Amino acid sequence: MTRPDDGSALEGARIVLGVTGGIAAYKAIDVSRRLVDAGAHVSPILTEGAEHFVGRVTFDALASEKVQSTLWDETSPIPHTRLGQTADLIIVAPATARLLADYRMGRSDDLLTATLIATRAPVLVAPAMHTEMWEHPAVQDNIATLRARNVHMVDPEEGRLAGGDSGAGRLASPASIVAHAERILGPNDLRGLRVVVTAGGTREPIDPVRVISNRSTGKQGYALAEAAWARGAEVTLVSTVDLPEPIGVTVVPVETAAQMQAAVESVDDHDVIIMAAAVADFRPADPAGQKIKKTGGDVPTINLEKTHDFLVDLGERKTSTQTIVGFAAETENLRENALGKLERKRLDLIVANDVSAAGVGFGHDTNEVTILVADGTETAVPMGTKRVIADAIFDAVVRVRGALP
Ligand code: CTP
Repeated sequence: MTRPDDGSALEGARIVLGVTGGIAAYKAIDVSRRLVDAGAHVSPILTEGAEHFVGRVTFDALASEKVQSTLWDETSPIPHTRLGQTADLIIVAPATARLLADYRMGRSDDLLTATLIATRAPVLVAPAMHTEMWEHPAVQDNIATLRARNVHMVDPEEGRLAGGDSGAGRLASPASIVAHAERILGPNDLRGLRVVVTAGGTREPIDPVRVISNRSTGKQGYALAEAAWARGAEVTLVSTVDLPEPIGVTVVPVETAAQMQAAVESVDDHDVIIMAAAVADFRPADPAGQKIKKTGGDVPTINLEKTHDFLVDLGERKTSTQTIVGFAAETENLRENALGKLERKRLDLIVANDVSAAGVGFGHDTNEVTILVADGTETAVPMGTKRVIADAIFDAVVRVRGALP
């Protein structure tokens, strides 16, 4: 998730990382490290409880400043106001039940709680505790109140807890905490929008064990989903591939073009639809019910039929506030073919790439595209990671949506 080369929103951000006394405090070391790697300036605050679990020296070595833990530091007489006023973001990970209660009440009797009260910066809290404590009405009430005050939460996950127990209450992963931080500090230019992205090549059955498919690996679609969430959108990813799920994104697994069509149609009221999937144009007309055997039989003839081009339907039904983006993977006449699809499918944008060029398209980690917009503008995006390409596509989407009624 940390991509300083790609212009992470964490680059140059001043982040106070508060660590409270729970067994998950050791994971805060990884959070600190990831933030620093992404270019953030990390000022750690350890509570007295946290120091029972992790050593100051570790944070001193890995963060950008030495650990602070007291309001009564002789070198800095008012550390809480300095930290609170200069922070771009305060993260508390892990946050114990006690921290949540103190913060809710506005208590300020140690450096971390005082800093939380002394700041106007956004605050991200990652609670971690035993399941019984997490589910206690007092804790849930504190969480609800803090949320209502616009405190951001990364909910705990289900999993193994201290003492061999298992259940809800385990600290969210450091990757997830850092991704949430990046989203809070990001441009937020897709906030409030619901975005659907499709990814991967569809697989059309010949028989129960064989399929017709294509070379798409879904990487560009996943990068689009990740970018949309990082820019504040609520994201659904309809996918034929089994890549790691992007943080915060709802993934709907599908296999065939027909399944993809049904999945997209169930969310086709969304604001932005991005058809990055390579949907099969043809499928076996009559897939065999049993595996086709080579022994004793002739070489089979597979009759194909056309799949339904549901992007055409989406284009026809498009509302005045919807933005629909298609992809055109071409091996020749790139611009002409892409412009034809833009018009025929009534799209707002089409992303054209020449999949025969080196490092471009299917399976690569990089891509190079031309974004053609229905208003006649076009942007050539030079070779870059698929995340950089994804952000260029959303820049174009944001621009187009700026002209909506
Ligand atoms: N698409 C779709 N349903 C299909 C086929 C394609 O929704 N059955 C979408 C793709 O996801 C892509 C766009 O249509 O966003 C263009 O797909 P492409 O295969 O490049 O174009 P086709 O319309 O199939 O044209 P051609 O086969 O001539 O390239």
